[in-house]
Amino acid sequence: MNVLAFVASPRKNSNTDILTDRFLEGAKSTGADCEKVYLYDCSINFCQGCYRNCWINPNDCTRFEDDMQRLIEKMIASDLVLFASPVYMGSFTAKLLSFFERTIPIHNVDLETMVVVENRLRGRNAVVALIHDSPDPATAELPFKVMDRILKKSFEMNIVGRLQVGGVRDKADINNKQESLREAYELAVRLCSQ
Ligand SMILES: Cc1cc2nc3c(=O)[nH]c(=O)nc-3n(C[C@H](O)[C@H](O)[C@H](O)COP(=O)(O)O)c2cc1C
Repeated sequence: MNVLAFVASPRKNSNTDILTDRFLEGAKSTGADCEKVYLYDCSINFCQGCYRNCWINPNDCTRFEDDMQRLIEKMIASDLVLFASPVYMGSFTAKLLSFFERTIPIHNVDLETMVVVENRLRGRNAVVALIHDSPDPATAELPFKVMDRILKKSFEMNIVGRLQVGGVRDKADINNKQESLREAYELAVRLCSQ
């Protein structure tokens, strides 16, 4: 089982990172191969909407040579992908959105009929984790919905788990939420044991 985790917080060793580590610890305890990617360490240009080649050559954005191609390949090679982000301004972070914008090349589209003839992410499993300061669980409703739309509708992934931790603001506040960290660990154990 290959597990890939994207950390979409600019802060290392922070709440999102700590939750991600607990999830990966759970996955590793079952023997899964795990990798963590800090999106803020990656070079991800903004999509320019050029439609140059990205729907014709799968996984090939010919405009930029940045980290996107290798990140897409990593996702395709995974059985389970964790997308973990803090809530920023009521949504997930801009870095994660710019990453999603650049995933257009996962699809190979027949440009005459506009039908997707290949989707190289279809059927992969996904877990979404959202972390925020507000104690109100409704804080994550909108970003969860947007994630649903992108992961289920566009990527055709199966969302097999959701994690949400509210009431954490400063780095490592999440260490006071041992129950949430245990939940992340146990979710990974369950998903990787199936
Ligand atoms: C620019 C910015 C915007 C934020 N917007 C929200 C918000 O809309 N709702 C909320 O509950 N918390 C918000 N927060 C708080 C973060 O979600 C919170 O500090 C979180 O624990 C950060 O995760 P990290 O430690 O992994 O970086 C915001 C923080 C920043 C820096």
